[in-house]
Amino acid sequence: MRIKEESIKRLLDSISIVDVISDYVQLRKRGKNFVGLCPFHTEKTPSFSVSEEKGMFYCFGCSEGGNTVSFLMKYEKYTFVDAIENLAKKFNFQLEYDDSSYYEKDTELEKLYDYSRITARYFYDNLTKTNEGENALKYLSERGLNDEIIKTFGIGYALSSWEGLINFAEKNDLEKAIFEKLGLILKKEDGSYYDRFRGRIIYPIFSPAGRVIAFGGRILIEEENQPKYLNSPETKIYTKGKTLYGLFQSKDEIRKKDAVLLVEGYMDLISLYQNGFKNAVASAGTALTTEQVQILSRYTKNVTVIYDSDEAGQKAAARASEIMLETDIDFKIVSLPEGEDPDSFIKNHGGERMKIEIQSANDYVSFVESILMKDKLTIDNTEKLKIINKILELTSKIKDPIRRSLYVKSISEKFKIRESALMESMSKYIQQSRLEKKEEEKPLTITSEEETKPTIKEIPILEKGLLELMFEGNKELIEFILLHIPPEDFTSEHSRTIAQLIQNELEQGNLPEGNIIINKLEDDELKKLVAEIIFEKHKVSESWINNFVPDSSDEVKWKIAEDHIKKFKVEYLENQIAKNQSQLKSAIDLEEIKKLMELDKLLKQEILKIKSMKFRE
Ligand code: CTP
Ligand code: MN
Repeated sequence: MRIKEESIKRLLDSISIVDVISDYVQLRKRGKNFVGLCPFHTEKTPSFSVSEEKGMFYCFGCSEGGNTVSFLMKYEKYTFVDAIENLAKKFNFQLEYDDSSYYEKDTELEKLYDYSRITARYFYDNLTKTNEGENALKYLSERGLNDEIIKTFGIGYALSSWEGLINFAEKNDLEKAIFEKLGLILKKEDGSYYDRFRGRIIYPIFSPAGRVIAFGGRILIEEENQPKYLNSPETKIYTKGKTLYGLFQSKDEIRKKDAVLLVEGYMDLISLYQNGFKNAVASAGTALTTEQVQILSRYTKNVTVIYDSDEAGQKAAARASEIMLETDIDFKIVSLPEGEDPDSFIKNHGGERMKIEIQSANDYVSFVESILMKDKLTIDNTEKLKIINKILELTSKIKDPIRRSLYVKSISEKFKIRESALMESMSKYIQQSRLEKKEEEKPLTITSEEETKPTIKEIPILEKGLLELMFEGNKELIEFILLHIPPEDFTSEHSRTIAQLIQNELEQGNLPEGNIIINKLEDDELKKLVAEIIFEKHKVSESWINNFVPDSSDEVKWKIAEDHIKKFKVEYLENQIAKNQSQLKSAIDLEEIKKLMELDKLLKQEILKIKSMKFRE
């Protein structure tokens, strides 16, 4: 029923947070930690930090933070159990459960993934091991694909039968209900099923982590009334607008090159890949979405769009430009010659020519100009105005005012129009888009989200310092601190909760660790707080140790702890004194005044005593 806590701990101990987060964020080693651009807010310089040793991450920019599990929960929107099970699966770790019968709900996702993988294998075997598959294989090789690339992309074939997958399910005792949930088989009126994909080349679609989540099917023999492409419907594991075809295979190269080629079709991507352009993704079957751009921007900010040269392709490129202008992506557009798509271009003209096309890609200004100019050699003022207005409308979508004005400058030079006139003209588009924005309920872009992000509630810096010391991994030190300042003495609810959890861990014989304690916290803000405490150094200055050195020796840590405890106690007493004195001001009864004055004296003595006290031998 429940995953054993011990098992979770061992899982987290056995994997590296850097390996996990690297699937989502480009990380570079800096000092003891790894850094990268934060996936939870927009930034240009990296403030997202990952500590392999502590198993935690923290963003100095937006204070998002936590451990491996909370990263996945945040990023993939997994539940706690989903996150753990996915990690276990990914790293081949056998989880232990308290009770052997565990929730249906927890396993449904796993089943969907399992069945997708099994189905991909089934399609692949159809292609490579059946008679009917030979035709498909021949088709693929005619299109220039070799065995290796077929394997890399797991390309397969759906038999032309109505019952290929259904027979396979029956033979292997697989649940049809799961195939139905994946949209791979469909129910007829009489309750029986039939295959969705028939007589099609199958392109499995992978998640960035390499799980099969859906399929695209291209018809092998073109027939009337049959669409060229058929795709899986959206399911619990597949959202079209959040998926990029080829990302799994290309992501390493995208990171390495810090650049990505964005194409439309399955075959475009595969063709590029086989010809050495291994840093491409395809939007495959959907107009580019903001979510897809967000995903891409975690790997690189440099996009080159290479869409089909037909009208549909150019329209799609224009739409993609609009989407990207609203983000901090830097993009260029390649305009292929008439009648070509990336796949055909590379076949007809070779990789070298493709390279040249990519190097000489245009920015959106020239792109818009060229599509609106079409083949005209000269244009009149009305047409010119139309072009400039379209360009201004697009430019108005750029959020960053500096970047926007750089473009205005270049537009001004290009069309020989004063910048001020362009600015004036553009302001109406800016206003218009603001109005549209207001009408939308949810913010569409990454940038507007970040501003509403709640920050961690303030807790006294001294208490953060104490908690930080307790996360240094020294049992005696923790016991020493908690002996003098028990959890209930912490003044803020947040620090109290964390101190209490530290004590609980200690009582259970464990060494309290940030990444384990985070698993016990429900509240997102508290998880962030733990990360903040561990990553940020909370300096309690003006003490006799002025520098809170990150890698301080044990002796220094003890001294800092002692210093913190003293300060904490002194602060506590000073608060008492203040309260006392305000009571004194309003007291009229002589007896009471005497008592309060006595207390005042005692408290002050106590402070002196603490200041000179030695807590340790
Ligand atoms: N697409 C789709 N559904 C369709 C048509 C197209 O999902 N009915 C998607 C596919 O991902 C396809 C891409 O849009 O790869 C581009 O479509 P198209 O240019 O028509 O096909 P090509 O990729 O050129 O396919 P091929 O080269 O195999 O003819
Ligand atoms: Mn094509």
